[in-house]
Amino acid sequence: MSRPEIKVPPPGPKSQEIISKDNELIMQSFARWYPFVAKRGQGVWLEDLDGNKYLDFNSGIGVTNVGHAHPRVVQAIKDQAEKLLHYSLTDFLYETPVRLAEKLVKITPGSFPKKVFYTNSGAESIEAAIKVARGHFRGARPYIIAFAGSFHGRTMGALSLTASKPVQRRGFAPLVPGVVHVPYPYCYRCPFRQKYPDCNLWCVDYIEEWVLKKYVPPEEVAAIVFEPIAGEGGYIVPPPEFFRRLKELADKYGILLVDDEVQAGIGRTGKWFAIEHWGVEPDLIAIAKGIASGLPLGALVGRREIMNLPPGSHASTFGGNPVSCAAAIAALEVIEEEKLLENTTRVGEHAMKRLNEMKEEIPAIGDVRGKGLMIGVELIKQDGSPNPELLRKTLDIAFKSGLLVIGAGLSTIRIAPPLIITKEEMDVGLDILYNSIRKALQETP
Ligand SMILES: Cc1ncc(COP(=O)(O)O)c(C=O)c1O
Repeated sequence: MSRPEIKVPPPGPKSQEIISKDNELIMQSFARWYPFVAKRGQGVWLEDLDGNKYLDFNSGIGVTNVGHAHPRVVQAIKDQAEKLLHYSLTDFLYETPVRLAEKLVKITPGSFPKKVFYTNSGAESIEAAIKVARGHFRGARPYIIAFAGSFHGRTMGALSLTASKPVQRRGFAPLVPGVVHVPYPYCYRCPFRQKYPDCNLWCVDYIEEWVLKKYVPPEEVAAIVFEPIAGEGGYIVPPPEFFRRLKELADKYGILLVDDEVQAGIGRTGKWFAIEHWGVEPDLIAIAKGIASGLPLGALVGRREIMNLPPGSHASTFGGNPVSCAAAIAALEVIEEEKLLENTTRVGEHAMKRLNEMKEEIPAIGDVRGKGLMIGVELIKQDGSPNPELLRKTLDIAFKSGLLVIGAGLSTIRIAPPLIITKEEMDVGLDILYNSIRKALQETP
């Protein structure tokens, strides 16, 4: 088995050259955690420009689910690129998006007939969801309910739903009107200061009692948009009955449920889609990131009778690009054939066990939560408040020790390695993480 190898303290001289040019030439609107300059990736391993080797706990932010440069995906890309690079699904037809749609309608929850719309990113899939939901009601239901604490992307429509950090919205108002936010069910820090299960899921009743009955007429709400596990907001897993209760509420008022599986979908949690853990069938599912394991592609999959925007009302030049679709077909086949859902569950359970043991030993680990290989480790101060400084130090030390892992929310380590990771590789990463937290604590009481 391979191990990380740091030969030159990162960032080394070759990386530094790119870092300074990036700084000069590329708009710095990103919030990067540390200066990693990627050169090549294979499986769960990445190499930087200076030849250092790292274990990857990020998957390029939930994207390379079947591992970096999986030979099947690379071959599919090469084969398709030689045949047809592009011809735009907006005006013509070709085979790969249809073949991929045949798969998507099967693996998404719900045995009802479905249709697919292709995009190039997560934000675009959310944009499509907003238009499909509002369009379905022909403008009669202008409102959308979303969750404070959630992330849905950064284009203006998606941003209107996003509400996980003020910096994402600061200076960009006015956003798309008609979005109403309600608190995300973050039981570790309940926004209503209640305790589960004594709360009896007040967070769902609140929507009905204080939103729908006070100021947002339910017959004017097109959709409730949610992340099944809040990603960017801190890898937060809602309590067991939450989605069932939300579905009951939505059904009562004829409101559509839109499930944003951009980060949690495509096997990340050990099921094809995270919402399957709760047995709820959404009306629309937004997909992107891991679908093509490295090429840009997104999709909106939904009930056939809802996916009925009129011709000319929505389209995308590159959405459903033949090469991305070919990569996606290969990636989905790899997930099936290599039994990656099973591996995700197995290695995820192992990681949760080890992380919970660490939590017992290290009081600065306040909470360990997740499903499959979507795991959050929330770091706290002695008074129980979030500890962003400790998070930053921990991630920096891990980086310099050969582990690539980033944060989510205010102070949560987000663990999202490629789904092909073995137990042994997971242990290598968790050992580095453990040592990094301990070392960071010596510097950050
Ligand atoms: C849940 C969720 N939705 C939407 C998005 C936006 O995706 P993209 O960056 O591809 O636009 C993200 C990105 O992190 C996400 O995590």
